[in-house]
Amino acid sequence: MENLVIPKSIAIILDGNGRWAKKRNLPRAMGHKAGCETLEKTVEDCVRLGVECLTVYAFSTENWKRSAIEVGALMKLLRFYMVKLIDVANRNNVKAVMIGDESRFEPDIRKGIRKLTEATKNNTGMVFAFAINYGGRDEIKRAVENIVDDVESGKLSKENISEELISSYLDTNDLPDPDLLIRTSGELRVSNFLLWQIAYSEFYITDTLWPDFDKEELLKAIESYSHRQRRFGGR
Ligand code: FPP
Repeated sequence: MENLVIPKSIAIILDGNGRWAKKRNLPRAMGHKAGCETLEKTVEDCVRLGVECLTVYAFSTENWKRSAIEVGALMKLLRFYMVKLIDVANRNNVKAVMIGDESRFEPDIRKGIRKLTEATKNNTGMVFAFAINYGGRDEIKRAVENIVDDVESGKLSKENISEELISSYLDTNDLPDPDLLIRTSGELRVSNFLLWQIAYSEFYITDTLWPDFDKEELLKAIESYSHRQRRFGGR
């Protein structure tokens, strides 16, 4: 694979943990556990390739509707990985940030998120943004509420409202928009991920289930991206 163009910013919709587990007659939670291990490796692969920002969709605002057992298993994994990621991030000079609404999580999880982001905030390498209790529409709704508050308090006026200003009120405010959006498991939809930010992203969909995603798959996605001609609406 020659002349690879490495995207600055990659976003991934992690899908297929449940199907991966089902294929092996395992409980869904085991699929999520395997998915977490894949995520850890993918963070390191992206660092090695020189990606500047990796954003992953780990838990959506809609995922609370899953069974209490599955949500419980995901929360348990989250508790474990918030601690484990401190090491992974610090070893790789990665700055971890959360996007989404943390208010719905239990206090200990919120504390774990804060510990991880605090412990890695001075790292200067890749930014790893994990979307949990995240929904693109919810993010835009919260941004609009904050803009309205700032207009009402006189901090902002209507004339200040620009696309850049709206971007700065989103959870992703200082992160680059994704150049490449990868979705595993073959589904052809966006599922409420980064609705504003993916306006000009290139899409890459693979049938590979998330736990089976590896460096070779990542390179295939980047190779496909390398052949795209990006026009951003121009000619
Ligand atoms: C989609 O697979 C995956 C999720 C809903 C969560 C996956 C997130 C991780 C593995 C990263 C770590 C995140 C947490 C919160 C610890 P699916 O269950 O929708 O798969 P299916 O479509 O095959 O059923």
